[in-house]
Amino acid sequence: MPSALIIGASRGLGLGLVKEWRSRGFDVVATRRGDAPELEATGAEVHTLDMDDADAVAALAATLGARRFDVVLINAGVKGPMATVHSITREAGAGDTWGALFWTNALAPVRAARHLEPLVASGGVLAFMTSILGSVALRTHAMADLYSASKAALNSLARGFAAEHPTRTIINLHPGWVKTDMGGDSAPVEIPDSCRGMADVLAKAAGTPGQRYLDYQGNILPW
Ligand SMILES: NC(=O)c1ccc[n+]([C@@H]2O[C@H](COP(=O)([O-])OP(=O)(O)OC[C@H]3O[C@@H](n4cnc5c(N)ncnc54)[C@H](OP(=O)(O)O)[C@@H]3O)[C@@H](O)[C@H]2O)c1
Repeated sequence: MPSALIIGASRGLGLGLVKEWRSRGFDVVATRRGDAPELEATGAEVHTLDMDDADAVAALAATLGARRFDVVLINAGVKGPMATVHSITREAGAGDTWGALFWTNALAPVRAARHLEPLVASGGVLAFMTSILGSVALRTHAMADLYSASKAALNSLARGFAAEHPTRTIINLHPGWVKTDMGGDSAPVEIPDSCRGMADVLAKAAGTPGQRYLDYQGNILPW
């Protein structure tokens, strides 16, 4: 039975991917921070985890022990403060601050990857949920600058991680602009369409080592 581990699956794209993989017959292990009744109802094996806590990620990896997954997807992310680089203060702080944004979107996923990489099966895929907004090459506007910079930092750190794991398949994945709490009601892509595409992209990537930055339709994005 194919298997997947997904970090951050209480709602939105994470929950959508659990449903998509379950419909494909996957054995799914999924994490959430608080109550997530819709996730519990999917039949996935559910664990509690705050991805910001690297010790908790290490403990989860130890609990999962000798299990191996065809896909490990680090999905959790936050939108961050509605502020610009000019309107924030120097103090990084906690809560809905730029410091917390960079911790959750850029640093915590790569710190988590160090603990979760050994759980990826031979020929399997390790994926980071990034965004097209993290592309420096495509940045010809100043929208969502803090969020975009956090995903650019994730891409950069993930490239360093990939350089240290050259035999692995590592995908930096853009889900499209999707109708979730984060994406908002104006987003043109529905959750099931994005998740069907991402599941296809990750399945196709298996067995081909190297790192790629791909969207949910399989298009290659420039770094
Ligand atoms: N929607 C889009 O258009 C879009 C576009 C590009 C990229 N993305 C990326 O896709 C991913 C999912 O986004 P979404 O649209 O599904 O957003 P969402 O609906 O806001 O869901 C975010 C998910 O991340 C979890 N999360 C946040 N911080 C966490 C932490 N410290 N530990 C564990 N879980 C945490 C949330 O859990 P709680 O329920 O506990 O808060 C929730 O399950 C994010 O990385 C986002 O940046 C989204």
